[in-house]
Amino acid sequence: MNQPETLATLQASVLAPAYVKNIRLLAWVREMAALMQPDAIHWCDGSEAEYNQLCNALVKAGTFKKLNEAKRPNSYLALSDPSDVARVEDRTFICCEKKENAGPTNNWVAPAEMRATLRPLFTGCMKGRTMYVVPFSMGPLGSPIAHIGVELSDSAYVAVNMKIMTRMGKGAIDVLGESGEFVPCVHTVGAPLAAGQKDVTWPSNKTKYIVHYPETREIWSYGSGYGGNALLGKKCFALRIASNMGKRDGWLAEHMLILGVTNPQGKKYHVAAAFPSACGKTNFAMLIPPKGFEGWKVTTIGDDIAWIKPGKDGRLYAINPEAGYFGVAPGTNTKSNFNCMASIERDTIFTNVALTDDGDVWWEGMTKEAPAHLIDWQGKEWTPAIAKETGAKAAHPNSRFTVAATNNPALDSEWDNPAGVAIDAFIFGGRRGTTIPLVTEARDWVEGVYMAATLGSETTAAIAGQVGVVRRDPFAMIAFCGYNMSDYFAHWLAMGQRIEAAGGKVPKIFTVNWFRKDADGNFVWPGFGDNMRVLAWMLGRVDGTAKGNEHAFGTTPSYSDVNWNGSDFSDADYASISTLDRDAGVAEVKLHAELFDLLKHNLPAELSATKARIEARLAT
Ligand code: GTP
Ligand code: SPV
Ligand code: MN
Repeated sequence: MNQPETLATLQASVLAPAYVKNIRLLAWVREMAALMQPDAIHWCDGSEAEYNQLCNALVKAGTFKKLNEAKRPNSYLALSDPSDVARVEDRTFICCEKKENAGPTNNWVAPAEMRATLRPLFTGCMKGRTMYVVPFSMGPLGSPIAHIGVELSDSAYVAVNMKIMTRMGKGAIDVLGESGEFVPCVHTVGAPLAAGQKDVTWPSNKTKYIVHYPETREIWSYGSGYGGNALLGKKCFALRIASNMGKRDGWLAEHMLILGVTNPQGKKYHVAAAFPSACGKTNFAMLIPPKGFEGWKVTTIGDDIAWIKPGKDGRLYAINPEAGYFGVAPGTNTKSNFNCMASIERDTIFTNVALTDDGDVWWEGMTKEAPAHLIDWQGKEWTPAIAKETGAKAAHPNSRFTVAATNNPALDSEWDNPAGVAIDAFIFGGRRGTTIPLVTEARDWVEGVYMAATLGSETTAAIAGQVGVVRRDPFAMIAFCGYNMSDYFAHWLAMGQRIEAAGGKVPKIFTVNWFRKDADGNFVWPGFGDNMRVLAWMLGRVDGTAKGNEHAFGTTPSYSDVNWNGSDFSDADYASISTLDRDAGVAEVKLHAELFDLLKHNLPAELSATKARIEARLAT
């Protein structure tokens, strides 16, 4: 007679620890191990001891270099393959049954076809390697808003980064219990090793696939070891899969920082802001108010992702599902982002920055003067003279640090409160050298959704491909919305309507642009800490105390409406970054029209109507 398989035999078949009791998880791990054929299976418990052991193994393999313990305690440097340095949007797929549900802004392949393509690639892909089973929670362990994922990866670099970026290990398994649900995430660098074959320090594959099946909530990632391609809790789960969950269940998964800001009277506000990749989220989330803003304080809740749910009181509550920061290194210094520099003084994994002669790290913009000699991110000799001659960057423009949120001296006391924080304002911002004013307030929720939907930004090094080209990046979610963008706009409109219909208060919506340039190509706005001046104006608008002038696109403050205490920024400079040129405005709306044409299937009528109103205002 056939005995039902016991838990013990299932555990034994995948070398699982006794605390793993979830049958679905065990069966899936066994099926995946049979497919990918790793040499060994390692169940990550998330302990410090395990972290140290894996880091030591990475040092031995040459993937990590241990940094000078006296200068940068408990920290490592990884140099990637030069071809594996950023997210690959053209290799990222949303595979739902109907193409129209992925929409025109996503790459789509039918699930069956994609499965047929991936099957041979994943067959035997972990030969010669260890498969790490990485259980993680997005959001505080056990909280009702959190979701569990399990990533299978043949990269120890992924395992240690996931330890910092998420609540990773046994705790997540305990939450799963015997029958809990998890999102299965399969990741391979796509570089199996033949018997006796020597490994490279950063294995990867020219062929890359970052695949999402939203209907079955699966993630399959092939060929890259880098950031958002490989740390599957981040963009793949917490944005692309979670945006699908939010659409279905009435909440929002957004590419947003969350900050707390307390005024000198002790009143605290919470703001969530969406800027595209490498456009200032981490910096804004860690802002230190400038001279003249004594008594103001900004605290960090999150720097990249927000999950936002309506509360019973008619307000929107946001949580940060992550536990660490995977932040841009170049441009970070003690002046631009003191809190960030303090965060990464220790316990940090650096990827693709330069190595100093004394075993520390350096990147462009860290100090005014570059060190006399470095090993650059490609492992090559680097001196200022070489850089001048060849233009070689010491650090890759998308080089990153990975550090736990708890290292941040400005961490908000509510940062891991499962109830989240009530949002007073949403900010959307792009990187635009011209046209877009420093700050504009939407007159109402629909106009705010329009502003966010039509957001434009110059591409950055966070994305493989051309840098500096203006593209539409609706809600800074062009690469992260896991379903049809027009349906996503409708979801935002519906969230606002639902709150207003229930007598609640929708947050105010603003757009900002820190990046207007002068004729010589220099940024006019000092940015960083001075962004507090703009933030303070917005909070004044939230309280109904600050003034502004209406124009075609919304409301923008006059010079005298902004607090310039401690600043010598002139009226003329302000005018050069806050006025809206009519011809430029008309040209901008043409680009909105192009976007709306692309998104015409299911585009909410309110957005077309808002565009018509702006066009009419521009014409008078
Ligand atoms: P992702 O992690 O890719 O999502 O990026 P992010 O949005 O968190 O961007 P981040 O804060 O890391 O900033 C990216 C780059 O923009 C860095 O080089 C910063 O120094 C620079 N930057 C950030 N804020 C400002 C600002 O206010 N003004 C200027 N000029 N540059 C800024
Ligand atoms: C981004 O590109 O928006 C990032 C870095 O935050 S990554 O994790 O690579 O997506
Ligand atoms: Mn990001």
